[in-house]
Order: sequence, then structure tokens, then C-alpha cells
Amino acid sequence: MKLSEYAKHLLLAPNLEDKLLSPSKHWEEESNLKSLRIEKPERNQLLQFSDKKVKIPRLEHLNLESNRGLTLHHFANHELMAIELFAWAILAFPHASKSIRNGWVKTIEEEQTHLKMYIKRMNDFGVQFGDLPLNYIFWKQLGQFNSIESFSAVMSLSFEGANLDYSQVYAKVFSYFGDKETSEIMVYIFEDEIKHVKRGVRAFEKSVPSEKNSWEHYLSLIQFPFTPRRAKGYLYIPETRFLAGLDSKFVQHLAEYEDEYTGRVNLESIKKFDLGRELMRKNRLDSHSRQV
Ligand SMILES: [Fe+2]
Ligand SMILES: [Fe+2]
Repeated sequence: MKLSEYAKHLLLAPNLEDKLLSPSKHWEEESNLKSLRIEKPERNQLLQFSDKKVKIPRLEHLNLESNRGLTLHHFANHELMAIELFAWAILAFPHASKSIRNGWVKTIEEEQTHLKMYIKRMNDFGVQFGDLPLNYIFWKQLGQFNSIESFSAVMSLSFEGANLDYSQVYAKVFSYFGDKETSEIMVYIFEDEIKHVKRGVRAFEKSVPSEKNSWEHYLSLIQFPFTPRRAKGYLYIPETRFLAGLDSKFVQHLAEYEDEYTGRVNLESIKKFDLGRELMRKNRLDSHSRQV
């Protein structure tokens, strides 16, 4: 199979098991290097895009399993869109370097694992994937994906970057409510997402012009109404961005960024939990479980 055929399969085959097809270890040589921008993925009836707004349950309400299931459904939707959009990038940017393309394939494989983990766990809570409307927030950014750098700025530095904050917050809140299994899923995904943001940083940083710093370059790559607000959760954890290889100027500018949509509500509810400053990391969990 050629990599482009695999990417087309992920985008154009309609069922969940199609989107979860693992990548091959060896790819046949590509014969056609024409850019292909697929406007919309094929999806079966259950997985259709929806404009219905679904609110994610409040953190205080995650003591209920049903709310944990709905929260994971929300996250699973992001994973499905990520699988499709990294496949989209493979087709749209056929001249990307081998290392960038290999990185996208690795990311797809890891997003597939995340999607499976979320689905398995939401099923434990009585929620099936497709039970709730699926928004298409990542797909709405297609108009911004004019280059590998702008794709990386939006997908990796912004959406996956924000996920570093969210996966930490939810790992802590699930653990607070005694749900170690779901908390560990969040930590596992957090560790992978560090790698994903890192891959995006690598694709992006080569293109920073000498007269600009990385933050200015990032701002030049994203288009209003998409703003840096999308690049962080309601609680911003700068340490996670350093782990992903972002420079201190970028991390600082992102900390200071605010706009009229910056939400306060959930931030207040996090403070109630007093979750501490220390990151939840996989190696810490591992060493902990070795001790017991
Ligand atoms: Fe993911
Ligand atoms: Fe990711």
C-alpha cells in the first residue's frame, strides 16, 4: 500500500473500524505527488458532523460515571478528527519531508490508540461513541491550512497544545473522584500529546524568519477568528509547553494572551479542587506502582 492510499482510506472509508486501521510498516513508492485537499471526510450515519452544541459536564459533576462517559465522548471526538486531519495533511502536503510525514503517521497511530482507549472506557460508563452529536471544530479550520507550518500551528501548537492542559486537569479531577483507571488514561494520552506538540514545533520552527520570534511567527500563521486562546485550556500549565520544546518567549506570550472569550467559570471550579501544581506523569505512576 502507498501512504497516500492509506490516508485516503482514513478519510473516505466511512466506518469507525476504517478510521482505526493501523498504518503499515512499509509503504510502496508514491507515483503521484499532486496535492489533494479533501473538503470533508466520509462518515457513516452515526458519525456525522453536527452543529448542535453539547456542553461538556462541569468538573464538579464528574463524581457521576455518566458524566465521565460524556466527557470522554467529547475527547474521543477530538481524536477521531485528529486521525482524519493528519491523514488530510499527508494528502495536502505531498512534498513534506520524510521525517514530517513519518511523524504524521506515528501521530495517527497514537491518536487511534487514544480513540480506542476513550471508547472502551466510555462504554464502561454506559456511553457509546456516536451517542452524542459530534462537532467538527478541527475540520472548520481547513481554510487556515495553507502550508505545513500553518497546519502545525493550528493542529499541534494550538489544539494539541491545549490538550496538554486539559489532559492534566482531567487526570487530576478523575483521580480526585477516585477513578484511577480513567486518570491513568489521561496521563497516558498526556505523554503522547507532548510528542505530538513536539512534532508540530519541529515542523514549525524551521520556518521562523530571522526577523521574527516564534510567537510573532505563530501569530502570522493563524487567522482570525481563530486566536491563541485555542492554544490553552482554561487552566494554563506552562511547564507542559517546555516539555514539548516551546521556547520561553512563546510560553510567556501564550500565558499573557487573553481575549473577550477567555472563560473564567471553569477556572473557578478548578480552584475549588485545589489540585496542586505538580504534573501527573507516566513515569511517576510507573515508579509508584513498582513500589507497591
Ligand atoms: Fe490524541
Ligand atoms: Fe495528538
